[in-house]
Amino acid sequence: MGVIAVTGATGQVGRRVAERLAGTRDDAQPVVQRLLVRDPKAMASAAGREVVGVQGYADTEGMRAALEGADDLFLVSGRESADRVAEHRAAIDAAVAAGVRRVVYLSFLGAAPDATFTFARDHWATEQHLAASGLRWTALRDSLYHAAWPAFVGDDLTIRGPAGDGRVASVGHGDVSDVVVGVLLAGDAYDGQVLDVTGPTALTVAEVADTVGRVTGRPVRYAPESLDEAYASRAGYGAPDWEVTGWVTSYAAIAAGELDVVSDTVERVMGRPPQDLETWLRAHPETWRHLVRR
Ligand SMILES: NC(=O)c1ccc[n+]([C@@H]2O[C@H](COP(=O)([O-])OP(=O)(O)OC[C@H]3O[C@@H](n4cnc5c(N)ncnc54)[C@H](OP(=O)(O)O)[C@@H]3O)[C@@H](O)[C@H]2O)c1
Repeated sequence: MGVIAVTGATGQVGRRVAERLAGTRDDAQPVVQRLLVRDPKAMASAAGREVVGVQGYADTEGMRAALEGADDLFLVSGRESADRVAEHRAAIDAAVAAGVRRVVYLSFLGAAPDATFTFARDHWATEQHLAASGLRWTALRDSLYHAAWPAFVGDDLTIRGPAGDGRVASVGHGDVSDVVVGVLLAGDAYDGQVLDVTGPTALTVAEVADTVGRVTGRPVRYAPESLDEAYASRAGYGAPDWEVTGWVTSYAAIAAGELDVVSDTVERVMGRPPQDLETWLRAHPETWRHLVRR
């Protein structure tokens, strides 16, 4: 096992990946990590791991220097931006220039050039660049995070969006991170593969609202919107058009059935089932405590 570079270690997935890799005990092949972060001061603890500051994915030269000597790279998709595909391409180019051998990329379910969810088109373009890079690669297409649901509940305890009666099998950050680590440590077992990473059950948004309500003890409900209503209800947030379109189309992709996928990836890679939404919510009250106070 050589040096594994991990991006996004100040975030939800990257932090867990780094912690789990650090907890991996294999004296014959110790895991050596290098964490590439934009703000090293934001790292709570990185004992025994090298932390390298980088400006961001768009800084190809800085990324190349930071990746010098690394064998594997876990590349977290960056924060949504108008230039995200260019940023991801630059990071992949930096990996090639630095001599990295393999990239494991965190993509999104249903990535396709014509995906209803516009941000999923970014992921498809990134996957294409990776596949053409000459590097060994694996793309992990995660579903919506369980953590997103309590955050989507409005002040009136309502989840509003144009999701119709479509279904989605959201997944916990922990399960996604476990799969990332499992793939990183599995040698070439998942090379050239695109793996969907989902929870165990596909729920409608009405069922999600019921679940959040049951766990929080609050009357959470789902109010379906038309596309026009969805754009109108988000117009006052002051966000750029590309971002509002991403928010609205994430629900529209559910309505279109594009996120109605239940995969066996967690089971296959980790040998155990993924956590369902209710179990996950009960284990993470910090994600919904704000709803109880409302
Ligand atoms: N499946 C879903 O439901 C869902 C929902 C939202 C987003 N996502 C995608 O999944 C990714 C990982 O999820 P998460 O929950 O771990 O996100 P998160 O907690 O926001 O963490 C994102 C991490 O990526 C880093 N980062 C973002 N843009 C970067 C850039 N351009 N260059 C270098 N580093 C960058 C951040 O660094 P800083 O701390 O410096 O910002 C942070 O460490 C997100 O970044 C986003 O692309 C998925």
